[in-house]
Amino acid sequence: MDQNSDIIILGIESSCDDTGAAVLLNGELLSNVTYTQDVHKAWGGVVPELASRAHEARIIPVVDAAIKNAKITKQSISAVAFTRGPGLPGSLMVGVSFAKSLALALHCPLIEVHHMQAHILAHFIKTPGTEYDPPEFPFICLTVSGGHTQIVKVHAFDRFEVLGGTIDDAAGEAFDKTAKILGLPYPGGPLVDKLAQQGNPQAFRFARPSIKGYDYSFSGFKTSVLYSLQKWQKEDPDFITKHLNDLCASIQFTITEILMDKLQQVLNVHRVKDIALAGGVSANSEVRRRFAELAEQQGCCAHIPPFAYCTDNAAMIAVSGHFKYLAGDFSSQNIMAMARMEM
Ligand code: KG4
Ligand code: ZN
Repeated sequence: MDQNSDIIILGIESSCDDTGAAVLLNGELLSNVTYTQDVHKAWGGVVPELASRAHEARIIPVVDAAIKNAKITKQSISAVAFTRGPGLPGSLMVGVSFAKSLALALHCPLIEVHHMQAHILAHFIKTPGTEYDPPEFPFICLTVSGGHTQIVKVHAFDRFEVLGGTIDDAAGEAFDKTAKILGLPYPGGPLVDKLAQQGNPQAFRFARPSIKGYDYSFSGFKTSVLYSLQKWQKEDPDFITKHLNDLCASIQFTITEILMDKLQQVLNVHRVKDIALAGGVSANSEVRRRFAELAEQQGCCAHIPPFAYCTDNAAMIAVSGHFKYLAGDFSSQNIMAMARMEM
């Protein structure tokens, strides 16, 4: 590789409970390392203070592994891209400070990346040996993660129009919190997905929101699961154990219905050729299935990222950094983490 003209981006992700680093050469992924913190499992959710400490302990080994796996030298890095926000303040600060120090030491530019934009741009990750088929602009993206749920019209790499978002819980939170009510360990989403495979999605009905416009709400649904279970458990203390698979299938079915209903309303008005799915919850099998089905009904092409790029990862930060590098969109050394950040 000609290291003078090549663009090598190191991406760093530390917004929540995954410490990630990835290296991209001319837009192609060379390495992608993710350390998922398991210290939170015992607490039933992410503990911010523990997350910051785990990032601090892991960031150097993770970045080191990404550089080694990519078989590049630190000196060949063209720019360091990092997640500025949104996310947990302490977690972000570890990644931001590390990225600033590294860029300063390497005398290379620094590039801030918006975590939610990066989830969307994960569709543009090129992996050697696999087909590259990203969505065409403008496209509609349903971003569903542990902290966010948004419907975004993506006009260009740097132009994102938020059409709707959640007014309370995110879709991932709805999965995790209802899983917690069922007594499942954190994060409950993947487990609900697994158990739902053996269950009947029509077994139980839970409340659905009636929110105007393109916004989402999951708090009424969550309360309905809680109250229903309290009632059923009064009648039979073993209710959850006896009906776990059906409960998971019905919960998953309802969350997916809520997500797809609003998306369909958007697609009836915003006619686009391509639709995309992004964020951790896009790993869910029912969400993926229904999304593909909706695309077919609407005559659109569905873009669903590979599993590895659905949940938090640094490859999506590196690819976002790559496009900003091409646009000359760099950040200063005075930049600070932003826990809340507009698109
Ligand atoms: O995007 P992400 O990794 O982190 C955030 O930025 O929030 O998303 C994590 C969320 C968690 O709520 C997790 O339970 C959910 O994604 N998730 C799933 C599945 N895999 C991850 N939810 C349902 N089914 C899955 N298979
Ligand atoms: Zn995320």
